[in-house]
Amino acid sequence: MPSTVKNATLLFLGRTVVRAQALLGDPAARLFGMSPARDPYPAYESVRERGPLVKSRMGLYLTASHELCNSLLRDPGFGTLPAGEFSPVDSAAYVGGRRLVNPVEESFLVLNPPDHTRLRRLVAPWFTPRGLREQAATVARVVEEYLDEVAGRPTFDLVGDFAARVPIQVVADLLGVPGADHRSFARWGSALVNALDGVRDLGELRALHNGLREFEAFLDDLIAHRRAHPGDDIVSALVKHEDLTREDLIATTELLLVAGFETTVNLIGNSVLAVLAHPEVRERLVEDPDHAEAVVEETLRLDPPVQYTVRFPFKSTKIGGTWVPKGTPVMLLLAAANRDPAVFADPHRFTPGRADGREHLAFSSGIHYCLGAGLARMEGAAALRGLFRRFPDLRAAGRVRRRPSRVIRGAARFPVSTGLAKDRSIVETIR
Ligand code: HEM
Repeated sequence: MPSTVKNATLLFLGRTVVRAQALLGDPAARLFGMSPARDPYPAYESVRERGPLVKSRMGLYLTASHELCNSLLRDPGFGTLPAGEFSPVDSAAYVGGRRLVNPVEESFLVLNPPDHTRLRRLVAPWFTPRGLREQAATVARVVEEYLDEVAGRPTFDLVGDFAARVPIQVVADLLGVPGADHRSFARWGSALVNALDGVRDLGELRALHNGLREFEAFLDDLIAHRRAHPGDDIVSALVKHEDLTREDLIATTELLLVAGFETTVNLIGNSVLAVLAHPEVRERLVEDPDHAEAVVEETLRLDPPVQYTVRFPFKSTKIGGTWVPKGTPVMLLLAAANRDPAVFADPHRFTPGRADGREHLAFSSGIHYCLGAGLARMEGAAALRGLFRRFPDLRAAGRVRRRPSRVIRGAARFPVSTGLAKDRSIVETIR
């Protein structure tokens, strides 16, 4: 069978099975089967109601328990890939006869030790408290620069015109990307993030392969440029390690771009959504811009950009009273763990500054704990502080369009009015 027909058939069969299992009440099928734009939190609660570890007929387990998520993320008996049975080359895509590097499956995000340790250690120095202090000025400058661009406009798209631009510029600076084109990054980032949910049709598959091919060509150029003209950025440091392969270099750079981009865009978007929905929080933020840090932390808990991750036991393992066979995926619902009533008082309420606020798992836990957590917190707080200082009357000015992803939660389009429009009809026409 030609591969396009085979792929289309498999995608169709996959969707049909998910729909049928969802109708039969399977918790994983319910999550995968519903539109990614829908509110997933009721489905997470129904997983919690069934107990700490829930079996799905789709060949995986799920947990909404904070204690279990946290302990499996820290358990050396569990990995991000089933050990020894997975080779990125097996699942590789080839375009024009050339193998594409898969930034998700080949980066240290999903490698197990010792490869994980080796690669993470090379980039870790940029994310230490000292590294972050050095980036604070860049973050503040970038936020102000993009606020200047939207200032004076009665309305703008909070995501496209602001939230998506700040993290790209910050990460591009870190990597030493000259004249970063945020629109290309946004396109490649979206294709990759959509792929985290599994490609739904051939159009998405093609967009993913094209995006990866362009992204790789761009990075090959960047690597060559930094070999010839080294700076004090991450890529210039990485190319000095002669033991790193081209694939290591590409996968690590792509990981930093992708992990540091879409996640932070959605942290900014979700924080603003939460602030606009809670007038008392907004009032406090306008009075005290430093309240932004607590708002960002509570957004990470209540509506985190990364909703879940997966771990695989290296051997058959007893969890609670249940044997989980070797290599079976266990879906760790981080967003549900963040609302676990065993840890958080009044868990569904948005309460910036709550005493238990930093117990959340939005940045995961264990060896894969987000390397960019400090940077993301700093960017989120700087963005909120700047936005509400500049536009204390910021308002929603139209329908929010959600991004079509279950793993990454946030807005794709979020029209806001700056409060500068004296003539309310300008705002009304956008509704
Ligand atoms: C709100 C923003 C962010 C969120 C919610 C977030 C979330 C996460 C999560 C949940 C993981 C671990 C996934 C797992 O355990 O399977 C992770 C890993 C990672 N993140 Fe972030 N992230 C954010 C921002 C950033 C930024 C700004 C950077 C860097 C520029 C970054 C770089 C990384 C890297 C390199 C890893 C892999 C760590 C490892 O495997 O050792 N992230 N992130």
